[in-house]
Amino acid sequence: MIKKLRKAVLPVAGLGTRFLPATKATAKEMLPVVDKPLIQYAVEEARAAGIEQFCLVTGRGKTALVEHFDVAFELEATLRERGKDEALASLAGAVTEPGSLITVRQQVPHGLGHAIWCARAFIGDDPFAILLPDDLVLADKPCLQQLAEAYYQTGGNIVAVTEVPPEQTNRYGILKIGQDDGSLVEVLGLVEKPAPKDAPSNLSIIGRYVLMPEVIKYLALMERGAGNEIQLTDGMARLIGEQPFHGLRYEGRRFDCGDKIGFLEAQIAFALKRPDMAEAVRTFLKNYV
Ligand code: G1P
Repeated sequence: MIKKLRKAVLPVAGLGTRFLPATKATAKEMLPVVDKPLIQYAVEEARAAGIEQFCLVTGRGKTALVEHFDVAFELEATLRERGKDEALASLAGAVTEPGSLITVRQQVPHGLGHAIWCARAFIGDDPFAILLPDDLVLADKPCLQQLAEAYYQTGGNIVAVTEVPPEQTNRYGILKIGQDDGSLVEVLGLVEKPAPKDAPSNLSIIGRYVLMPEVIKYLALMERGAGNEIQLTDGMARLIGEQPFHGLRYEGRRFDCGDKIGFLEAQIAFALKRPDMAEAVRTFLKNYV
């Protein structure tokens, strides 16, 4: 029986060193693309895929992330009083259902696999999604919804994948591919950040996953992998052969907002999708470039 997907884990403990000084006193996941913080895009995408319960794996200095999803009573009352309806409406996506968001702390940065292991009590015996808020996907159908739909067909584990230039395999988790229908691919192996010469393909994992709870027992082994970190990819690799494991070539475009250029590209792409901004941005780009 395929269990309903209700839970999502969002690892947000990273220090954001690539965005200093902007991230000196604020979480990198609070950086906005146009006018919405990265974390809110991730939570809204999860909600659209039917997720009801959220676990943020946080660390020191990340309290703004939790504040962001609370009711801001004074702010809302003031906006209502002043008739600022549009501003008031914009806050709707930034509130989670009472009791639906919890946090756990990753006390030491031991890697993504370790961050997910920190959420083990939240995960329990249920399938769960992972969204890495740095990866922002512009798509007609939200990326996690595409994954969830594939999960309800195949069951088991599914990761969102995309082709990368062969010289970039050392930045991502890379698939060894079996059967491939052009959209869904069978995963025969997974390697974290292989050098191009060792990469089994150029199909890379992006930050959207649907996983079975059994991955936790492998992460609990605390084995160190690439970069001497406890890698989620290595834990997932252990499930292959035990459970179905697929990659889904999602439809949409991914922006790596953990990178300055990727973040800037996302600003432009998302602004061009906004009816209230598109024309002004297009005109500016034409004239300026
Ligand atoms: C993590 C994962 C990697 C994945 C990537 C997607 O790497 O370890 O397998 O391909 O996210 O963004 P990180 O970006 O944390 O180095």
